[in-house]
Amino acid sequence: MDQIEKVIDEKIQGKPLLTEQKEGNAKKLFIESYGCQMNMNDSEIVAAILAEEGFNTTGNIEEADLVLVNTCSIREKAEQTVRNRLQKYNHAKKRNPKMKVGVLGCMAERLKAKFLEEEKIVDLVVGPDAYRDLPNLVEEVEAGRDAVNVILSKEETYADVSPVRLNSNGVSAFVSITRGCDNMCTFCVVPFTRGRERSRDPKSIIEEIRSMHDQNFKEITLLGQNVDSYLWYGGGLKKDFKKASEMAQATAVDFAQLLDMCATEFPKMRFRFSTSNPQDMTLDVIHVMAKHKNICKYIHLPIQSGSNQMLKAMNRLHTREEYLELVENIYKIIPEMNLSQDMIAGFCGETEEDHKDTLDLMEKVKYSFGFMFAYSERPGTLAAKKMEDDVPLEIKKRRLQEIINLQQEHSLYRAKEHVGKIQEVLIEGTSKKSENEWKGRNTQNTVVVFPKENYKLGDFVNVRIDDCTSTTLKGTAVGHSDNN
Ligand code: SAH
Ligand code: F3S
Repeated sequence: MDQIEKVIDEKIQGKPLLTEQKEGNAKKLFIESYGCQMNMNDSEIVAAILAEEGFNTTGNIEEADLVLVNTCSIREKAEQTVRNRLQKYNHAKKRNPKMKVGVLGCMAERLKAKFLEEEKIVDLVVGPDAYRDLPNLVEEVEAGRDAVNVILSKEETYADVSPVRLNSNGVSAFVSITRGCDNMCTFCVVPFTRGRERSRDPKSIIEEIRSMHDQNFKEITLLGQNVDSYLWYGGGLKKDFKKASEMAQATAVDFAQLLDMCATEFPKMRFRFSTSNPQDMTLDVIHVMAKHKNICKYIHLPIQSGSNQMLKAMNRLHTREEYLELVENIYKIIPEMNLSQDMIAGFCGETEEDHKDTLDLMEKVKYSFGFMFAYSERPGTLAAKKMEDDVPLEIKKRRLQEIINLQQEHSLYRAKEHVGKIQEVLIEGTSKKSENEWKGRNTQNTVVVFPKENYKLGDFVNVRIDDCTSTTLKGTAVGHSDNN
C-alpha cells in the first residue's frame, strides 16, 4: 500500500499551489491540496474566489496571510497526513503570527466545528459546498473570530466560477462535471463529506472547456466521483430526476451525450474522464469513445473486490460476472482499451477464498494500472456501524502485497503490448529523470518518455515505442501527429 500511495502522494500532495499573480492583489494565500483530483480542482475554484478578494498565491508559508489546506478523509492515513501537516503550520505560525489557518474539503465536512477544538491552530473550517462563502468567512477570521461553514447543498456546482489553474503545465486541465455521490458503498465516507449527487449545466462545461481551448490547453479530464452517472435536467439532485417535468426528462443530457458534445465541439483536444462506477457505465459511453479519436482509450473502472460476497457487503450494485461481461464488451468494441482498478484488501469478513477471487478477476482483466489499499474503517459509514473490521492487519497487508505484485506483472504485460508501435503522445512536461527528454502519455494513459529534439510542450507527437518498464514507455519521436 505504502508504495502505491506514495506514487499518488508525490504527484499532488503537500505542494504549495501557485498561479499567475493578479496585479493589485496585496494579500498572500498559501494553499495546498491532499487527496483526489476533485480536491485539486476545488482548490483552483477556491483560489479563483479568493483572487477576487485580493489574494495572490505564494509558495512561502512564512509570508502568508492565509494558509489553506484542502483535506481528504478517504482513509485514516490520509487524515493523519493532514494532522501532521498542521503541526508543521504551528512552527510557521511562530515565525509569522499574523497568519490564519483554514481547513477545506472532506475532513472539514466530517469534523465540522470539532476541528477548532482538536487542532488549536485552525481558525477556519469550510466544507466542499461552502467555498462561495469564503469571502465572508475570511472577513470573520481577519476580525479575529473563528468561522465555520459546512452546509452541504442540493444545487452547488460552482458552474460560473472560472477556476484559476494551479501549478499548471498549460497543457492539461481538470473540469468538474458532477459533485457528490449517491452510491453509498458501505466502506466509503465520500457520500457523507461531499453530499448528494448533482450535475453541472453542460453549457457551462462547454464554456469552461472553450476558455481552456482558447488558452491553448490540449487535454481535459472530466471529473466526478461517479461521472457515468452524470445527468443534467435543468438542475437539482440526481435522485429527484423522476420528479422533474416531462419536458425536463425528455431533454435531459446523460454522460454519453455530454462526452459526445465535448469531443465534437473540440476535435483537436483530448478528453479523459474519471471515475467510472461499473454499475453506472453504459455501452453508449463506449460507443461514443469508439466514435471519437480524441476520447482517450482508457477507463478507470474500480471494482474493489473480485468476490460476489464482498461486492454485496460493499453495496456495489453489480456482480463479478456482470463486471466481467462489461469488460468483455468494452474490449470487443475497443480492443486497444486499457483499464485500471481500485482494490480494497481485507474488507469486513473477507476470506482467503474471497481474496483469491480478486486475484483471479485481475488475471482475467489484466489492468494496466491500479490503486490498491488496505481497508480502513471510516467513522459514520455503514460498514463502521454494522460490520466488524475483522481481518487482522497482518493479513490485510499480505493480501494487499499479493494484489500489488500481481498488478505489477500485469502493468508490465500491458506496457509490453505498446512496444514496436507508433503512438500519439501529448507532451506534458520534462521527464523527471532527464532534462533532455519529454514526458507525455499515450491514449491509454501510459507515460511515454522520449528525446526532446525540436518538439515543444503541448505538441502531439508520433512516438515509436522502443522499450518499457512496468510504468514507463521509452521511445523516439518520428514526427508531429496530424492533430497539431
Ligand atoms: N468514485 C470515487 C471513489 C472515491 S474513493 C472516485 O472518484 O475515485 C477512491 C478509492 O478509495 C475507492 O475506489 C476505494 O478503492 C478506496 N477507498 C474508499 N474508501 C476506502 C476505505 N474505507 N478503505 C480503503 N480504501 C477505500
Ligand atoms: Fe465512494 Fe462508492 Fe461513491 S467508492 S465515492 S460511495 S461510488
